[in-house]
Amino acid sequence: MSLVTGRLEILKEEDKKDLDVARVSVDEEGANKRKLYIESYGCQMNFADSEIVASILRENGFATTSKIEEAELILLNTCAIRENAEQKVRNRLQHLVPMKKKRQNVKIGVLGCMAERLKTKFLEEEKIVDMVVGPDAYRDLPNLINEVEDGQKAVNVFLSREETYADITPIRLDSNGVTAFISIMRGCDNMCSFCVVPYTRGRERSRDPFSIVKEATELFEQGYREVTLLGQNVDSYKWKGVNGDLNTTTFADLLEMVALINPDLRIRFSTSHPKDITDDVLHAMKKYENICKYIHLPAQSGSSRILDLMNRTYDREWYMGKIDRIREILGEECGISQDMITGFCTETEEDHQDTLSLMDYVKYDYGYMFAYSERPNTPAAKKLTDDIPADIKNRRLTEVIAKQQLHSLERNQMAIGKVQKILVEGFSKRSAEHLCGRNDQNKMVVFPKENFKKGDYVNVLVTECTAATLIGKAVEEVLA
Ligand code: SAH
Ligand code: SF4
Ligand code: F3S
Repeated sequence: MSLVTGRLEILKEEDKKDLDVARVSVDEEGANKRKLYIESYGCQMNFADSEIVASILRENGFATTSKIEEAELILLNTCAIRENAEQKVRNRLQHLVPMKKKRQNVKIGVLGCMAERLKTKFLEEEKIVDMVVGPDAYRDLPNLINEVEDGQKAVNVFLSREETYADITPIRLDSNGVTAFISIMRGCDNMCSFCVVPYTRGRERSRDPFSIVKEATELFEQGYREVTLLGQNVDSYKWKGVNGDLNTTTFADLLEMVALINPDLRIRFSTSHPKDITDDVLHAMKKYENICKYIHLPAQSGSSRILDLMNRTYDREWYMGKIDRIREILGEECGISQDMITGFCTETEEDHQDTLSLMDYVKYDYGYMFAYSERPNTPAAKKLTDDIPADIKNRRLTEVIAKQQLHSLERNQMAIGKVQKILVEGFSKRSAEHLCGRNDQNKMVVFPKENFKKGDYVNVLVTECTAATLIGKAVEEVLA
């Protein structure tokens, strides 16, 4: 039986939100510097963290390389969200064993969520690992590397209530020079029963808004034209000053501050928790043309009973009400995407049908779908039984994916005949004669390149589509 991985097949190849796929570091200048190779797994937060790590280590004499064979330090920034995400990292470490045997001086460190989850156990389980560093301990990397170079194993997995790396300017790795991610908060205080993130990333804390605006402004000045504000739950962003003595800056306020940097800087954000996204956020999105009309609003399930077991703190009707509100304020065209989990503990066929019918109600533009994977020590692992057999989880997942595929196509067809404003990100993967870029709703649009280039805004008339991509041609027409 083929394994259903949970990643929607039709998702754009260019999409960066792939949850389990590795991205590697780039070649930095620096002939006399020590070479560092970073490979990142998991979500965008991890990729953003790798850019902070590269920045911290640059200050300490390292330059990143894309060639693992020339690196003296190899870092894997890991993900623990599902069993297969961890398995991928273990397989990768196994692959590195022969190289480590040949080049004894190479040091291998694991960072990120799996490091935090396993702590010193990582050193026992994977002998090849020299260093284990949790997501809040990256400032300590230079010391830890020294320890490793002295022949010891090094571990720092302390979680912090304050660390936001606000003062560190990330080194953009694997960048197209047009779009960038900015972490605006860390950790998560929600206790979704299936989720390992609160344990691997610690308590929720927001970053100083002025440091966020500064980072976005600098990116704009360097030619970037789109920033995605990142957090596990961006809508609960809150800043009251270091001492808690300032007027509260909410997420809606922050969006406005970033939107005002320049009308040519597009703003996206991810992820929204349905319980926290407010009318103020929706109104800010409506007010500013440069805040993209697209919301990633994970539902996880369409069954109120399962949502309760998941501790999502909303039910089906409440979620539907939120969708209605989004469409009321931002119109039918606002892009909405989902995350869904199939086969959560006790899920019946009826619960599964509720998920499918919720999807019919919303008609998501796209989604990220997963079979439930029990994570050790989460509330669900402690209190519930992972009782749905793998074949049923996977069959339900296939059905959810198939439905999403239909809806993605249907939603994309709505764009045909319309002129859309595209921010060019680069050449299309398939042809050097075509460019690609996203529309407001985060859909990838491909069109003949003519004289356009990366970073341009282009008005494109959409003429065809697949479930994954819109296809069109540039037109003169000025957008209304
Ligand atoms: N903070 C975000 C998502 C974080 S993890 C949010 O709240 O939406 C990304 C997605 O992985 C989740 O939305 C969920 O759909 C999925 N996920 C998390 N834990 C999982 C598990 N144990 N098994 C399967 N999928 C899981
Ligand atoms: Fe996990 Fe829930 Fe927090 Fe998202 S909101 S990171 S799913 S605990
Ligand atoms: Fe994975 Fe950690 Fe992100 S578990 S999904 S890398 S927050």
